[in-house]
Amino acid sequence: MPAGMQGKTILLIVAGGIAAFKALELVRELRRAGARVLPVLSENGARFVTPLALSALAGETVRTSLWDLEDEALMGHIQLSRAADLIVVCPATADLMARAAAGRADDLAATLLLATDTPVLMVPAMNVRMWLHPATQRNIERLRGDGVTVLEPDDGEMACGEFGPGRLPDIPAIMAAIAAQFGPGPLAGLHALVTAGPTHEPIDPVRFIGNHSSGKQGFAIAGALAAAGARVTLVAGPVQLPTPAGVRRVDVMTAHQMQAACQAALPADIAVMVAAVADWRAETAPAKLKKDGSGPPALVLRENPDILAGIGHDARRPALVVGFAAETGDLLAHAAAKRVRKGADWIVANDVSEGVFGSDHTHVQLVTAAGAEDWGPCPKQAVATRLVARIASHFGAAP
Ligand code: C5P
Repeated sequence: MPAGMQGKTILLIVAGGIAAFKALELVRELRRAGARVLPVLSENGARFVTPLALSALAGETVRTSLWDLEDEALMGHIQLSRAADLIVVCPATADLMARAAAGRADDLAATLLLATDTPVLMVPAMNVRMWLHPATQRNIERLRGDGVTVLEPDDGEMACGEFGPGRLPDIPAIMAAIAAQFGPGPLAGLHALVTAGPTHEPIDPVRFIGNHSSGKQGFAIAGALAAAGARVTLVAGPVQLPTPAGVRRVDVMTAHQMQAACQAALPADIAVMVAAVADWRAETAPAKLKKDGSGPPALVLRENPDILAGIGHDARRPALVVGFAAETGDLLAHAAAKRVRKGADWIVANDVSEGVFGSDHTHVQLVTAAGAEDWGPCPKQAVATRLVARIASHFGAAP
């Protein structure tokens, strides 16, 4: 497993503030980054988000009370707080921080914080006056003195209409702070360029040539690289997928735009070219083509630049270049030839005659100078994790 959040257990305490609903998005991002999330909802937190929503997104039982006998029998609160690699309090309210600073144990959240020596990260969100109040600032100083990491809230307009510090930081900033708790990761200091998705080549102002690439595999790889500590530039064709945590995304439409964005992203240490780039573009008509009775228009196609081959033979070639090959027959022979022709170190080859496009599952073989390895059928997320572990060991980092 690469370091970062993959495989980590995070105990997430959701306290009662208007920002509690944003904790739901945080749960999704944490799970997407490979973490297990054990949710705890305070009594007041349950006024803002339902236990059901939190447990459905976390895929775990929500703990809400000290006095839940069944949970206590299964896993006492002390064990619960110690099973985690990190405790995150989001949102951290003025009240919970005051109780934690005072060493109170008057509800499940406060008890967990007192009963553990697991690192704690608090993400405050509250009204600006409450944040600026000397009592709150005193409590934060005490918490920091006790070794708790307390993030600074964002400045801006508050739900109550006031303006100033107190807003919950945005989710990518919280994710970065959480990732930092787990150390730099095996790919820290390296820049990775990833392409993903299809390209659209316009025929006229309303039509285009495209393909069925969903972008899922490339986005999963970009997320896994970021989780392993790399700085990631993701050049994405037209897809409606959320940007993985910690990834810089550049949206493009055509192969030419994708090539320009890739060149602009260099230098990079790693390039993983997953995009299904259209091989041909059409000569674009300036106005919408009309049915005028003279028969269908002829499409004049021109060859697109090969972005992978360009990077593979560039003077600024990244130290490791990985391409993908989607084939419908003679998989290994095509992939091996492609590896050499395009100047790639590795080719991840998959047979797309089996309905891989748009699916969450795939079946790939890794083709290197040493030969081919069959990775068997598995989720695209697992291919991402395994590829990134392989990249980490290539760079000499412990996977
Ligand atoms: O030649 P083919 O399209 O099968 O090669 C697939 C690999 O080459 C993928 O890694 C893809 O991202 C890359 N490619 C590219 N630019 C193109 C065509 C393919 O970067 N114009």
